Amino acid sequence: MSTLVIVGSQWGDEGKGKVIDYLSKKANVVVRGQGGNNAGHTVVVGDKKYALHLIPSGILYNDTVNVIGNGVVFDPKGFLDEIKNLTEAGIDVSNIKISSRAHVVMPYHKVIDALSEEKKGEEKIGTTKKGIGPCYMDKVERSGIRICDFIDDEVFKEKLKRQVEHKNIIIKAVYQGEEVDFETIYNEYSEYAKLIEKYVTDTTVVVSDAVESDKKVLFEGAQGALLDVDLGTYPYVTSSHPIAGGFTIGSGIGPNKINHVLGIVKAYTTRVGKGPFVTELFDKTGNDIRTAGHEFGTTTGRPRRCGWLDIVLINYSKRINGITSISLMLLDVLTGFEKLKICTGYKYGEEVITNYPASLKVLDKCEPIYEELEGWTEDLTQIEKFEDLPENAKKYVKRIEELTKLPVTIVSIGPKRKQTIIREEVF
Ligand code: GDP
Ligand code: IMO
Ligand code: MG
Repeated sequence: MSTLVIVGSQWGDEGKGKVIDYLSKKANVVVRGQGGNNAGHTVVVGDKKYALHLIPSGILYNDTVNVIGNGVVFDPKGFLDEIKNLTEAGIDVSNIKISSRAHVVMPYHKVIDALSEEKKGEEKIGTTKKGIGPCYMDKVERSGIRICDFIDDEVFKEKLKRQVEHKNIIIKAVYQGEEVDFETIYNEYSEYAKLIEKYVTDTTVVVSDAVESDKKVLFEGAQGALLDVDLGTYPYVTSSHPIAGGFTIGSGIGPNKINHVLGIVKAYTTRVGKGPFVTELFDKTGNDIRTAGHEFGTTTGRPRRCGWLDIVLINYSKRINGITSISLMLLDVLTGFEKLKICTGYKYGEEVITNYPASLKVLDKCEPIYEELEGWTEDLTQIEKFEDLPENAKKYVKRIEELTKLPVTIVSIGPKRKQTIIREEVF
């Protein structure tokens, strides 16, 4: 049995797409288990750049089976757009399996996402407006439309009718928004249902069969641990479980089937949308990191907030995910900074906090305690072996290993496949 969960260790956009694509050359199956097309996973192959949102990042290898699991919220329109773009780029998309139990993102979810954000004003979360939260709300409320309902015209029509009536009451009464129209949605979406039907199956069987027959299975996390609805910086989170445990529910496998958890860690920290961020930089250094790392959202194009690496956060992530090793990403972006800082604790009044706190009020008052390391000026992007990295870059990596008590098994020094240093095979 060889299974590997890949999780975002911070607030998303750590470079999961690149690592998943890299490891997919060995994988038989790649599985998404949560989130939806709020995710934006970038994969660079040669001079081509692919932005994957709903489709697993294993899609660029012909033989890999790509599973969209039951825990995903599935936007049919977004999915078909992605299929179209990939097909136009010459990618084979026949190896996709969609769970019959996944929930469907409908137009009213997006409408409510946008209206709800608008109504919150200053308090808004800064969502991607892809309808993710409202779709998960319906799922938990037990009124959602699942894929198996969606592709059954009779069931779909009936459920949609009820949903549109209900959502229009909310849209009008709570948000004074514009009503959605049943006929328009039905006509458009019943066509989508016909187009996706061929991909639909019981994916729990696909995943379980692969695991039991010793195939290599990669579980592709979306978002990041600190965006987890239970364990993240609530309410500034997404509505799913991006942590490793999310896969047991989101793809229907037992927790004992997970061998390794690879934590994807950006060499610094970024966040899109609102919420606490203790090591955020508001000065020139923050801007320089944003520019060097091209830190603009893959899904929404928003500038990402940037700051130093936060070990309090990473160690929290290690604990809640059960991370067994780290893939350190975007190390090349730190080239040219004279001094580098790593946050090792939070000063909270007279106290020093090392366990990530729950309260936003506490987080707001936390000041980062930094350790300073010497930077390097050499370009890293052509280096092939860990030993050939500049001494100070090696020291930076080794210090992360000491502070997290985890091995850094992969070091990424550029967006391309070959800009990857493997120190130890993990899959
Ligand atoms: P994901 O959501 O975790 O898959 O990450 P994104 O794709 O949203 O953002 C990561 C960005 O960093 C993408 O533009 C990647 O192409 C890029 N990237 C990944 N690894 C590296 C790296 O090691 N160095 C640099 N410079 N860019 C990288
Ligand atoms: P990947 O997979 C970074 C953030 C949004 C917002 C919050 C809630 O590319 O790492 P939502 O639309 O999910 O209700 O928004 O979560 N967010 C992400 N931030 N990377 C992502 O995905 C994200 N997906 C959602 O910016 O703050
Ligand atoms: Mg992303």
